[in-house]
Amino acid sequence: MPHPYVLLSAAVSLDGYLDDTGPDRLLLSGPADFDRVDEVRASVDAILVGAGTIRADNPRLLVNSAERRAARVAAGKPEYPLKVTVSGSGDLDPAANFWHTGGEKIVYTTEKGAARARAVGLAADVVPLGADLDWRRLLEHLHDVRGVRRLMVEGGGQIHTQLLRQGLADELQLVLAPLFVGDPDAPRLFGPGPYQGGRLRLVSTRPVGDVVLMRYEPTAPGSGPHASAADHHWLALACELAALCPPSDTAFSVGAVVVAADGTELARGHSREGDDPVVHAEEAALAKITPGDPRLASATVYSSLEPCARRASRPAPCARLILDAGVRRVVTAWREPDTFVAGADGSEVLVAEGATVVVLPEYEAVAKAPNRHLLG
Ligand SMILES: NC(=O)c1ccc[n+]([C@@H]2O[C@H](COP(=O)([O-])OP(=O)(O)OC[C@H]3O[C@@H](n4cnc5c(N)ncnc54)[C@H](OP(=O)(O)O)[C@@H]3O)[C@@H](O)[C@H]2O)c1
Ligand SMILES: [Zn+2]
Repeated sequence: MPHPYVLLSAAVSLDGYLDDTGPDRLLLSGPADFDRVDEVRASVDAILVGAGTIRADNPRLLVNSAERRAARVAAGKPEYPLKVTVSGSGDLDPAANFWHTGGEKIVYTTEKGAARARAVGLAADVVPLGADLDWRRLLEHLHDVRGVRRLMVEGGGQIHTQLLRQGLADELQLVLAPLFVGDPDAPRLFGPGPYQGGRLRLVSTRPVGDVVLMRYEPTAPGSGPHASAADHHWLALACELAALCPPSDTAFSVGAVVVAADGTELARGHSREGDDPVVHAEEAALAKITPGDPRLASATVYSSLEPCARRASRPAPCARLILDAGVRRVVTAWREPDTFVAGADGSEVLVAEGATVVVLPEYEAVAKAPNRHLLG
């Protein structure tokens, strides 16, 4: 199910704290960075904070610049982004600024929390998501029901930690402020516990006044049937590789990337690459990895087209090569049509031997683009 693009935004002290323990909100950024945040807010469809941040900071979460609001309206958007909060308890103060400023508001909560939130008469749409709050369902609801395509998450720590841990963050915009908090009881940006994936990808750094803005992208593949935000990045790369294939009237153009569980790219390939006129993308990529590489067992193969189950050009189809390499997770954009091989179902072969195949249909159009002439 499609999700909005999820952008985590936070500021931390040099010693990694989000705030101090005093009653007032600690100002970590300066005016130039608050203006940058205003610009990001103006660019999104919705802004989300946890109930803890509403209780601690009583934020308004507005687009402050009149020009930016006017530009939103001129582009056919609401003047202010939708404001979203998350509360399990439903313990929300109906007098908080959050409810009385800006545009529409929505609270995602549990069945129990909804009863409490409705009882106090919050000026917001209250949406219960069952006994527990499931982040994937929340993101699907925002996407499908509220039309949110870009979501900015402004904390606090509990919210950022969950979205990053569950592989649901597309991007982290982290501001490092030149001061120390020095109080071990102060809230940290990311809590203790397991984090899947290894290093994030540093996309850019930029000084903004006296702070530094760092933009990171998570790289770790999802697990099993759950797609991570990084799965989207890697499948998009596979689709870009498909566009590099030498044209053919008798075979598909496909791109493939093999990625370890910690987000390390192990290899990439595309159809007919190098001097081999019949090589397939997955085959080309896997051939670049030492057989028995221990990272293969937990790796993911991204292929712009479902791996083949039968082929005329070589004895082993790609579904077989993937299984023999030890890989048990495949992410693809579209299922192979019967253009060249009738009833070829690589997904069936993979699933029959315990692999998981995830299809992200959002990429079908771009994966098909270099094959348009073959699809009639
Ligand atoms: N420096 C920055 O960039 C920045 C930004 C934002 C906030 N902050 C600081 O961060 C602190 C607040 O952070 P925080 O971690 O305490 O609070 P938070 O992340 O804003 O909110 C936590 C609350 O959200 C709800 N929640 C979170 N995950 C949930 C789930 N899976 N299911 C149901 N409800 C869920 C719960 O609400 P209920 O308790 O109602 O169930 C939980 O108590 C404040 O000190 C604030 O100043 C700093
Ligand atoms: Zn193949």
